[in-house]
Amino acid sequence: MTPDLMAKGTELAEAHAKLEAAQKQGQTESGGRGAGFSRMHKLGEVDTAHGRILYLEDVNVSFDGFKAINNLSLDIAPGELRCIIGPNGAGKTTMMDIITGKTRPDSGTVFFGSTIDLLRYKEADIAQMGIGRKFQKPTVFEQLTVFENLELALKTDKSVKSSMLFKLDSLQSDRLAEILHTIHLNQDATRLAGNLSHGQKQWLEIGMLLMQDPKLLLLDEPVAGMTDEETARTAELFLTLKGKHSLMVVEHDMSFIKAISDGGGIVTVLCDGSVLAQGSLEQVQADERVIEVYLGR
Ligand SMILES: Nc1ncnc2c1ncn2[C@@H]1O[C@H](COP(=O)(O)OP(=O)(O)OP(=O)(O)O)[C@@H](O)[C@H]1O
Ligand SMILES: [Mg+2]
Repeated sequence: MTPDLMAKGTELAEAHAKLEAAQKQGQTESGGRGAGFSRMHKLGEVDTAHGRILYLEDVNVSFDGFKAINNLSLDIAPGELRCIIGPNGAGKTTMMDIITGKTRPDSGTVFFGSTIDLLRYKEADIAQMGIGRKFQKPTVFEQLTVFENLELALKTDKSVKSSMLFKLDSLQSDRLAEILHTIHLNQDATRLAGNLSHGQKQWLEIGMLLMQDPKLLLLDEPVAGMTDEETARTAELFLTLKGKHSLMVVEHDMSFIKAISDGGGIVTVLCDGSVLAQGSLEQVQADERVIEVYLGR
């Protein structure tokens, strides 16, 4: 979820509570205040004519002298589903922090398409340009329904009041219905998000990202804590997203990696802040260096 969306959701939930309280007292006005919502606007199209949606070259980051990212170079093709594996502390999350503008590298190049230099933009701008990020812990709004959570992801108006009066147009309604189906929650639209299982909350958050139609989705350990059945369904979900979106998926669950890389997906192994190996899952699994540092014998 994007930082501005987090703030927006909290405000909307507060406004809902206020409106309910006011209605109980027989008032008609919610007392909605002007809130500092950020607009979801596209800052420009992503040029992928050179066959890359994401391009990192010689990126370096040190934390107190410790090189967390070390001459990291990597690129992703439009529509690709790229798997990233590697030991704890390899720099996988830090790489996502750099792409999303949360962490500034000390040096290196990070491009979105061939024209957008991501190092020139702030975190919120990067999210608006079409890079969606899913953190490990689900951050849905538990006191809102599944439907409301998805609807929230679309809202663009600045004020809480008009946000509450917001009506989906038919295209948006269709999209919401399609996404409910995609994330396997079409039977659960009116349930409070707080009552969903852990896996369903993860899907809902992915749905909220999809409502914003991201070009690139970064997913950090999306199946951690899921049941085997939820994990299998998540693999199916990601395979349906592939092609329509570009995805970068970090995961330690190798059966999940096998499922989503089936059919020619590339697996990148990160270690000590750089790429140790890259290729099909079979190729990296057979690589002695990868066995040594990560997969074990
Ligand atoms: N803000 C920070 N300040 C100091 N050190 C950091 C910071 N962020 C990350 N690190 C260090 O950088 C290294 C890489 O961490 P990172 O979280 O990127 O690893 P990871 O590959 O995501 O590991 P895991 O599989 O455990 O999630 C670790 O040694 C971590 O302690
Ligand atoms: Mg991590």
